[in-house]
Amino acid sequence: MYRTHTCGELNINSAGQEVTLCGWVQKSRDLGGMTFIDLRDRYGITQLVFNMDENSGLCEQARKVGREFVIQAKGVVMERSNKNPKMPTGDIEIRMNELNILNRAELPPFTIEEETDGGEELRMKYRYLDLRRAGVKNNIILRHKVAREVRKYMDAAGFVEVETPYLIKSTPEGARDFVVPSRMQQGTFYALPQSPQTLKQLLMVAGFDRYFQIVKCFRDEDLRADRQPEFTQIDCEMSFVERDDVLDTFEGLAKYLFREIKGTEFTGPFPRMSYSEAMESYGTDKPDLRFGMKISDLTSVVKGKGFPVFDNSEYVGGICAEGCSEYSRKQLDELTEFVKRPQIGAKGLVWLKYGNDGALKSSADKFYSPEDLRGWANHCGAKPGDLVLILAGGRRPTLAALSELRIEMGNRLNLRPRSKYTPLWVVDFPLLEWDEEEGRFFAMHHPFTSPKPEDLALMETDPGKVRANAYDLVINGVEIGGGSVRIHDAAVQKLMFRVLGFTDEEANYQFGFLLNAFKYGAPPHGGIAFGFDRWVAMFGGQDSIRDFIAFPKNNSGRDVMLDTPAEISAKQLDELGLILRGRR
Ligand code: AMO
Repeated sequence: MYRTHTCGELNINSAGQEVTLCGWVQKSRDLGGMTFIDLRDRYGITQLVFNMDENSGLCEQARKVGREFVIQAKGVVMERSNKNPKMPTGDIEIRMNELNILNRAELPPFTIEEETDGGEELRMKYRYLDLRRAGVKNNIILRHKVAREVRKYMDAAGFVEVETPYLIKSTPEGARDFVVPSRMQQGTFYALPQSPQTLKQLLMVAGFDRYFQIVKCFRDEDLRADRQPEFTQIDCEMSFVERDDVLDTFEGLAKYLFREIKGTEFTGPFPRMSYSEAMESYGTDKPDLRFGMKISDLTSVVKGKGFPVFDNSEYVGGICAEGCSEYSRKQLDELTEFVKRPQIGAKGLVWLKYGNDGALKSSADKFYSPEDLRGWANHCGAKPGDLVLILAGGRRPTLAALSELRIEMGNRLNLRPRSKYTPLWVVDFPLLEWDEEEGRFFAMHHPFTSPKPEDLALMETDPGKVRANAYDLVINGVEIGGGSVRIHDAAVQKLMFRVLGFTDEEANYQFGFLLNAFKYGAPPHGGIAFGFDRWVAMFGGQDSIRDFIAFPKNNSGRDVMLDTPAEISAKQLDELGLILRGRR
């Protein structure tokens, strides 16, 4: 046995015990008569002490041990005179009798402590060293715990975990596919699943009834803090269910995870909001409900007074920031710069200050009387002391910009505490989205999502108006999961493909396997998939999913540790029957 204990478990009750520990040298301090080593393993840090008077040879040996050396240390647990209440093992230290160097280490490229001196790129290149740091390590352990709890809940609810293949045919989740060339059938390609969507539906046809899988998905899309090219879903599907059966089941999962992982209890049902209300009141389909500050439509209130910016805009909307009427010129300029950023895209910002004394002042008061301004304030629910921020332009882009401005104000006013969780089901999404550039409809969720039965007739006459039996779980403004009740009728599925502009041949080529399966008794079914990385990051109190993935990719989709994507050899290309443009 290399060790009798870990570096995280010894305390005052172990005093006097002889122990053997193994781990990495976090740091050592040589104080002349005494040498101290902080020994680290997955479980914690324990202080080792070497006394020159007691054993000078051993002390000399300890002085030669460098950072990150792997050592085995034998000694006796002693109560410390200088206790460290911040460390679980801070009451004790190990008086050393024997030291064995199990492996030497080169000086690491950055210090492996919480406050590291390593930049992101360097830490990613040496991710195995980064993972020795407590913060990142704990994130990965949290991930394990969430996965374990998911499996417990799902198993108890009768779900069966089934693995589905990674080498498949293209799945329509709206991103580009990663493809894998076939050697045995040269010139043909597998696609990596953007999700196991079609496969889980086939499992329903197969009669599995309740399926789930914690599964890797692959999407070649632009990356952000909450997006990785390969990420993990908790993918779920159920048969013989209607929308509310699915929502209830997975609200149960969400509540269970919050209880087990965060100790947070949700008593009542999660609120539900239609997509149209979310867009209207928050400018986004994933509203952060930790704070109010709803968007007010001012279009009809502000028009017709000769202010060209408003008169010429399709939509004018405002948000009311409570208690901000004293905002300075500089603060308002900052907000104006914020909304004018290219990614927000507003042309400018109009403000209305409702002073504590009741006076109303606006950046557009040349065109409006005090009564007009009072009308705006009333419409936005502003009271003395508040500030109304107004944007104008096209309806959709202005609502989107107001949504960003709302989040910015929420951050400035500390209205988005990490310890508060506000889950929300967003329901009744539109089935289809019109794409101006391509001149055709796209499925807003995916083409297997069923229309609401009462809207089915509109499929032929006014497809843009059809609402889907689709839903998202949004927590604190993050889309944690999304799903739908599926089409299980081959005729409706065919109609859907037609509305999406597929010819029968195209639909058959791409999804014939599913249409075929529907001929053999498809049960009514529906499901959902959760972004597992996002959920874990939220439980860990962070926005970026990267530090909750052991070996993530950077923003350009590179794994800088493996140094990939990388070229392949001419022999490999040859076997695959591939010729690269621009390469001999
Ligand atoms: P959807 O495409 O909405 O649905 O994906 C489900 C959830 O997966 C997460 N997610 C991501 N997380 C990290 N990086 C990414 N690139 C990424 N893309 C998506 C989000 C999202 O809510 N087959 C359907 C589900 C269904 O209908 O059952 C699907 O994949 O949290």
